[in-house]
Amino acid sequence: MTAAPPPALPAPLGLLAELTHRCPLACPYCSNPTALEPQAGELTAGEWARVFTEAAGLGVLQVHLSGGEPAARRDLVEIAGAAHAAGLYTNLITSAVGLDATRLDRLRGVGLDHVQISLQDVDAGSADHIADYPGAHRRKLTLAHRVVELGLALTVNAVIHRANIGNLAGLVGLAASLGAGRIEIAHAQYHGWALRNRAALMPTWAQVEQAMASLAQLRVQYEGRLAIDLVVPDYYARWPKPCMGGWGRRSLNVTPSGRVLPCHAAETIPGLEFWSVRERPLAEIWERSPAFQAFRGTDWMPEPCRSCDRREIDFGGCRCQALAITGDAAATDPACERSPDHALMRLLAGQDSTGGTPHYDWRGRAAAPVPAR
Ligand code: SF4
Ligand code: FES
Repeated sequence: MTAAPPPALPAPLGLLAELTHRCPLACPYCSNPTALEPQAGELTAGEWARVFTEAAGLGVLQVHLSGGEPAARRDLVEIAGAAHAAGLYTNLITSAVGLDATRLDRLRGVGLDHVQISLQDVDAGSADHIADYPGAHRRKLTLAHRVVELGLALTVNAVIHRANIGNLAGLVGLAASLGAGRIEIAHAQYHGWALRNRAALMPTWAQVEQAMASLAQLRVQYEGRLAIDLVVPDYYARWPKPCMGGWGRRSLNVTPSGRVLPCHAAETIPGLEFWSVRERPLAEIWERSPAFQAFRGTDWMPEPCRSCDRREIDFGGCRCQALAITGDAAATDPACERSPDHALMRLLAGQDSTGGTPHYDWRGRAAAPVPAR
């Protein structure tokens, strides 16, 4: 027996397709789960094509081909072509490692619309150290140039943390010089593997203040040339973000093996039941899956969210963060200053950002020192 769907359920706008968890890089801020899904269980290109058709039927407009590193899939061109054929705006989120110009040309040929390339830092030495992959930065720049030559839209994504937060101006300048239309500067989110590295990644409050001031100047400097998005670090915020635009409200994540999640870290929440595209149509999962129903809307909210005037602005913030900090996924996100756990979050940020010289814990690699800044 499944519950009836809530009335007037909106259609999702975006679908994150995690084509594989395999990745050549080892970024310490990786928010994929600590236990990755094996290649043997990955959805086939044919299964992805069915998912994309069902997504378009459900109202999804954009698909983000992601991972891991999606280029690790030999059938990436076939998968991207299926997304385009389903009528979806198709975005490839890539580290650029494992994707050469020839395959990029073929991706454009099958209808790829947009490419998002991650940069770890401004200079190659630091960037390659963070990703623990010599030569990665140079490959990224080469591929970015080719993306622009092909007339594809380019976004640069830079995850910010203690080692690179002082280089915002350099990262923005680099994105502009590459011909990107947008740079997304996102603070590391401490989910999955990244939680193990929080003490090595957390910036100090002084660094965050400096970055915000620098960003205001950069926005003026690059107005009309480069859109600059910044996600303020939750641990230093006053208000939480509407994570995923609200749980089960705007988007879905499909894992490499076909499990459908309300957000990429939802599997960290104990007791949720996730349905698979291998067993049910996407529309049924969106409307009725217990995981999507768990925190959808506002009925699940405790106080202070329940009676708060911002409850339909941020939808109580991030469930996975509430779990990680308070041990209760149904608690108010402690990023919120009205949360009883807000002071604890600030305390953790202060402790982590000033607590000595911890080491990066790279997935599958030996621990290594954090670069001095
Ligand atoms: Fe958002 Fe809840 Fe904080 Fe209100 S109390 S601002 S709804 S997280
Ligand atoms: Fe899961 Fe925010 S990452 S709700």
